[in-house]
Amino acid sequence: MQALLLIISAYLIGSIPTAYWIGKWFFHIDIREHGSKNMGASNTFRVLGSTWGIIVLVIDMGKGIAAVQLAHAVSASMWLGYETTFWKLVLGLTAVAGHIFPVFAGFRGGKGVATLFGVVLAIQPWTALISVAAFVVVVFLTKYISLGSIVAVVVFAACVWFAVQETNVYMRWFSVLSAVLVIFMHRTNIRRLFAGNENKFKGIRKKK
Ligand code: G3P
Repeated sequence: MQALLLIISAYLIGSIPTAYWIGKWFFHIDIREHGSKNMGASNTFRVLGSTWGIIVLVIDMGKGIAAVQLAHAVSASMWLGYETTFWKLVLGLTAVAGHIFPVFAGFRGGKGVATLFGVVLAIQPWTALISVAAFVVVVFLTKYISLGSIVAVVVFAACVWFAVQETNVYMRWFSVLSAVLVIFMHRTNIRRLFAGNENKFKGIRKKK
């Protein structure tokens, strides 16, 4: 019962549709009808400007961090036979799923990258920072945020499998699952990348 309550809480946290609510409340638009039509930080940057983009990025990352913290509500270090890291990953992945399928926005959400970053940052900060470095390099060289996100999630899985010594088996499968999920969520971006008409990052812009 406690597990179910925590999982529902993580889903509700992940479901907070930051970009959608900001678009609705402050600009009277549905962000999902503008730009790339994605309910995420990149599209908020694109459509509403950098300040709102950063706000969405921070809150969406915070959802991942918050969901992982819920695992500390599990009192015993081995609960239902699973260690705390297992619960952190379950709750983190649930928050990412909430971001992608948010109950508060008709189950049409974003691609999960910022929330996943928050989850990884809360569990394995160094892996998160290496993934972010890969993201920055790819975006700097290509100007494609989507390609940066895809490369970052692959680098994350590669770090977990091949570089981080203390990684446990749950973290390994979490990294594969989340990489597959994020790549799948970028399928339209991948089509546009191959077609040569993917949106390019235009740099930091002033608020609309
Ligand atoms: O995190 C989403 C990003 O990788 C792509 O977003 O709006 O360019 O489809 P967007």
